[in-house]
Amino acid sequence: MSQRTYQIAVMPGDGTGPEVIREGVKVLEAVARRFNLKFNWNYFDWGGDRYLKTGETIPAGGIEELKKHDAIYLGAIGHPDVKPGILEKEILLRTRFELDQYVNLRPVKLYPGVWTPIKDKGPEDIDFVVVRENTEGLYAGGGGFLRKGTPYEVAVQESINTRMGVERCIRFAFEYCRKRNKKKKVTLVGKTNVLTFAWDLWWRVFQEVGEEYPDIEKDYAHVDATCMWFVKNPEWFDVIVTDNMFGDIITDLGAMIQGGMGIAAGGNINPQGVSMFEPIGGSAPKYTGKNVINPLAAICAGMMMLEWLGEKFKDQALVDASSAIEKAVIKVCRDHLKSLSAGKMGYTTQEVGDLVAKYSEEGVDL
Ligand code: IPM
Ligand code: MN
Repeated sequence: MSQRTYQIAVMPGDGTGPEVIREGVKVLEAVARRFNLKFNWNYFDWGGDRYLKTGETIPAGGIEELKKHDAIYLGAIGHPDVKPGILEKEILLRTRFELDQYVNLRPVKLYPGVWTPIKDKGPEDIDFVVVRENTEGLYAGGGGFLRKGTPYEVAVQESINTRMGVERCIRFAFEYCRKRNKKKKVTLVGKTNVLTFAWDLWWRVFQEVGEEYPDIEKDYAHVDATCMWFVKNPEWFDVIVTDNMFGDIITDLGAMIQGGMGIAAGGNINPQGVSMFEPIGGSAPKYTGKNVINPLAAICAGMMMLEWLGEKFKDQALVDASSAIEKAVIKVCRDHLKSLSAGKMGYTTQEVGDLVAKYSEEGVDL
């Protein structure tokens, strides 16, 4: 029997968010039955529709409400009728910042039977994790305009890198690498040859913190070369640590080599606070309401949430439930889906959720 009832804030959000979160909750309820877990789902209607109706992004006291939960399960934020930037900055980024979710953890793992555009590479080659700094860098909002709207306009967008922010992120990467216990290698991904202030700091901190981890191999790669190696030699990577902007960019490429946005998930982590788990693909407005979007990314976000909570609260039932979901996802990818792309799966959104839920609850031999 699990130790407690887990309080989960559910934020389905915009576009296909609600459809995929519905399947995710279905799967989490299925493992809850099997492993005697209890989840209390509290729904939050933040997103584009609420904003269009009320003008509110995060309502007053909203962040405080989120803090009362053990984790947050998010669908997608972004609405075609709202100017780009408003919802993203005022809901998604504000939540990441105010809850100090300082790591965005994004696994890039190719499951057996999943098609990858990388020729001659398989699941044994594509299995790494990106630790993206999640509260600073270009995302911190530093900068401004001068003479806006004139021919002499100046726009400055600053990358803010603090010693504390860089250090905690790098330390997280080393700790995670040790726990993961695979290739035991951390690669710092940056741009030390051009961005000589920010990456000087990152480089120094990486060396210093790295000394505390003699068991772990240290490597460095420029971000542009990293894009090349994701395609050419993905097997070189184990744990990557990088800043917010580079992490954003390379994880979209990472998602593609693991089979696409249909399966890519991530966690916004505050080890001391409340973490938030989400599919990384966005709200996909053109597929909204069609029952064709792939719910596996949201399901995998749920799986990450259970693993994280299990380790945080030392609750083995959650960790077991998480691996049951992973096995079910592997089976569905291997034995059922024709493709991971929306509309090409050979199954509806709901049918994929039903299959994963069934296999998660029954257990599968792979
Ligand atoms: C992501 C997204 C967000 C980001 C956007 C929607 C603000 O692209 O989670 O990767 O840039 O972090
Ligand atoms: Mn992104």
